[in-house]
Amino acid sequence: MKGKFTTIAALLLLLIGAVGTLPARAQVSELPSLREIYKDCFDLGAAVSIAGWSDQTLDKHSELLAHHFNSLTAGNEMKPDATQPWPGTFRFADADRMIAFAQEHGMKVRGHTLVWHNQTPQWFFRDGSNQLIYEKETITAEDRQAVIHRLEQHIEAVVGHFGDAVYAWDVVNEAVSDTGGSIYRQDSPWYRILGEDYIKIAFRKAHEVNPNAKLFYNDYYIDAPAKRARTLEMLQKLLAEGVPIHGVGIQGHWSVNDTRISEIEQSIRMYAELGLEIQITEMDVGMQGFTEEEQAERYRELFQLFKKYSDVITSVTLWGTTDDTSWRRDESPLLFDANQQPKPAFWALVDTEKPWYANRAEYLGAVAFLSSSGQRLGVLRPGEYSIAELETLGFTLEEVAGLDVEREHLITFYSQEDLRGEAWHFTTTDSFPGRALAAEAKSLSIRFLESKNIALNKPVRASVLEDRAARAVDGDGLTSWSPSAGPPYWLEVDLQGNFLLSRWVVRLHGSGPLGGQVAESPFNAADFRLQVSDDAITWRDEDVVEGNTASVYEGSLDLVPARFIRLYVTRPTSVELNYSLYVYELEVYETGLEESSAKAPGDQAAEVVSMVEIKQLPYEYRQTLPKKQRGRLEEFSYPVSHYIDRERQLVTAQGLKAKEAGRETVEGEPITKQAYIYLPPGYDPEDQETKYNVLYLLHGVGGSRYEWLRGSGTAHDTYVICNVLDNLIASGEIEPLLVVFPEGRSAHDWTDTAFNPQKTNLLGFYYFDYELRHDLIPFVEANFNTYADITDTSPEGIAFSREHRAIAGLSMGGMQALNLTLGGHRHDFAAFTGAAGDPQNGLAPTVLAQGMQDLFAYVGAFSNAPTSSPGTVLGQGIASSPHRIELLYMTCGDADAIAMQSYRSAADGLREAAGDNLGAFYQVVLKGRGHDFSVWNHGFYNFIRLCFGKVETAEPVDILLTLD
Ligand code: XIL
Repeated sequence: MKGKFTTIAALLLLLIGAVGTLPARAQVSELPSLREIYKDCFDLGAAVSIAGWSDQTLDKHSELLAHHFNSLTAGNEMKPDATQPWPGTFRFADADRMIAFAQEHGMKVRGHTLVWHNQTPQWFFRDGSNQLIYEKETITAEDRQAVIHRLEQHIEAVVGHFGDAVYAWDVVNEAVSDTGGSIYRQDSPWYRILGEDYIKIAFRKAHEVNPNAKLFYNDYYIDAPAKRARTLEMLQKLLAEGVPIHGVGIQGHWSVNDTRISEIEQSIRMYAELGLEIQITEMDVGMQGFTEEEQAERYRELFQLFKKYSDVITSVTLWGTTDDTSWRRDESPLLFDANQQPKPAFWALVDTEKPWYANRAEYLGAVAFLSSSGQRLGVLRPGEYSIAELETLGFTLEEVAGLDVEREHLITFYSQEDLRGEAWHFTTTDSFPGRALAAEAKSLSIRFLESKNIALNKPVRASVLEDRAARAVDGDGLTSWSPSAGPPYWLEVDLQGNFLLSRWVVRLHGSGPLGGQVAESPFNAADFRLQVSDDAITWRDEDVVEGNTASVYEGSLDLVPARFIRLYVTRPTSVELNYSLYVYELEVYETGLEESSAKAPGDQAAEVVSMVEIKQLPYEYRQTLPKKQRGRLEEFSYPVSHYIDRERQLVTAQGLKAKEAGRETVEGEPITKQAYIYLPPGYDPEDQETKYNVLYLLHGVGGSRYEWLRGSGTAHDTYVICNVLDNLIASGEIEPLLVVFPEGRSAHDWTDTAFNPQKTNLLGFYYFDYELRHDLIPFVEANFNTYADITDTSPEGIAFSREHRAIAGLSMGGMQALNLTLGGHRHDFAAFTGAAGDPQNGLAPTVLAQGMQDLFAYVGAFSNAPTSSPGTVLGQGIASSPHRIELLYMTCGDADAIAMQSYRSAADGLREAAGDNLGAFYQVVLKGRGHDFSVWNHGFYNFIRLCFGKVETAEPVDILLTLD
């Protein structure tokens, strides 16, 4: 009998189109409950319509709502035009009905919305003579009073009516401008009459009426950098004024193609850093020419993100239930279709760690058994079965002539009970040998075999446009290999190993006739095939596609062995004479089922070169670790004999000459300064055996020894900067180290943080090197267990110590790290020119600092301030030192109006001038970031890993990065 069917599945005839025929209609009760799945993460809500003129989804979808959601929002019925259509006439019946429904089904209710420029009756804005106040040339105090009164009355009545039945309110909706120039939306009647004040008036009133309610500011696009910056500014202002605002509602009207997950993530962090709760209040994801599967993928990524931040995200509301009732119905943006059936997007949310179809298979079945006439005999979910059990489904194996197997699933028949004996594997087939197998098989299993795209980032060759060919396997669906010469074309991928292929996908998006996203178009590649090879010389066709118009082609493969694969295109589009082909992504999948250990001839183990990857500070690293894993902060005092005195002279104990210092020098009494030091967990002052690296971390012009600590943020009352250190140490990424937070002004008035070039405190920034060298470092190294020992002046001692010290600073401190460590200018315009008043540039260059290369091998400058010396000067400073700078790390936000220019000029020409005396030179530009801790925390995290990381780094290289 053996040999009648092969052990690897028999012929696979067709599975064209992404979605199989497998699922039948599902009853609501058969579906997993989303509210149940997410109950430990956040509330899951839906917007409903209740009013007579609408679709009334509250009634039509009541079963669906109660099954999947534990929060409701009225799509329209709580807006001002619904609740108070005429002065003093209130309508609450619709909303009350929703609240009754919610209470009956254990759901919360969000109130949407009290103050908005839309759906608000004009009577709010009319004066006594019925004129629209916001159109008047002069708005009187009386007008304003009247409008404030109505605003407060409205809030009082509406918030008062609902009381605690509404736990959260979108108090103000969409107040921020979409365009630059102003924070606030200019066309809002509220703004035109009351200016920005209306916002706080509304929040204060709402809080007064119901102090239990959580009050939200709600808006769209506030997860994109530009509008986010305006929103943050507004929120910060409100919070600073003590306005009772508790959360931000990110509406979440997204689309498949314009959703930047990294920006949304960044936004969540930034809002959370203000101490605000975050809710996604109106989520929908428009399809815009994309497929339902791509939409599902987007939903999956978004929910993965929400789960990651479930400590700050308390609710996610979908703006509707079914596509046909959506306010964006043309874009089918929701989880359920017009028949209330779950879409791939729904299934994607059931378990975001698995593909949507694997989730669906768990509930609706993974294998359908078909008769010879193609009729469905029965369906099974993944699991283990005995053949006899099929009869309980109402059919026998003998009758089965075809199988419809869900993607990435495999059905295996075994010659013995309990999955033992000989095995026969199948994927989808319409020539299934049911009769023969019935005599042989005793048990079967259906498994999900998670497959991975093994073409990703593998070496490619192409017949044309080879330099762009890698774009087809780079995992980025926005970049393409796009030849346009005469066909045929081919693109070949070396899989670098032998695999059994189960599936392949070609993404052709963007080739619609109008350049937009069109899922189905004659401009999509028409005729192409997948070929495989063992030697890249002889090729076999494995799948041949003709007359294709779909933007995504997906084909099953019958566990095809391959080492090389090739996309072979004979007709780039079905429009004659159009030779433009767009292949955004070519993917092939393997199941890992029988991974071959065979190595192709000439294969060599890839050279392992570890690199510290420059990346976002992981969110977890901001969090507080258990006490035992936390380091501690100590404040210490130390004597300083090197500082600027009242007469702008340098006080020094070294007998320095005026020429070298660039000003008169005198002897004088030491002053006492304070600094902080971070001591890592387990630090024991008595244990002289255990030594530590040390980082000196400098602050900015308005800052002090507190700046890094307080400015980096707090999490549960611990400083983020300390949490980052604790986490880096706990994870074993870096060696434990000490971090010193000094005060950067070496001046008698060092405690004065004012920015005033006429004062001496600012000048003190440019003379910090003397204090550091002669006062601070000797003190630290005498009193803490550092590897470095400044008293050892032997050549070996100096070489050893400098490898265990690092220096970095933000803004003015970044300037200090550059000018003073590498040897740049000192500045003091006021003293040197004798100029009165505040000169244009504040300060002017004087002598060069002598540099501290003998003390530090690692230097970091984060958003280095203006008056940083030019790159040529700094580079010469490096080149002229007998010591090599192993690492110079510079970073800046490209939206930083204060430092971007000085960052550029300090970096320009530096490498050329420094030559080999500089090891690695990192220049990391962060897109859309300003002069703030999002850049400095990032810089700190990456710099410290480069200096004291445990990863062996490759030979130093220059890294130029622009990061989102
Ligand atoms: C929409 C409703 O869904 C529609 O029925 C209505 O016609 C217009 O308003 N941002 C908001 C929501 O804050 O109130 C809007 O709701 C969608 C955009």
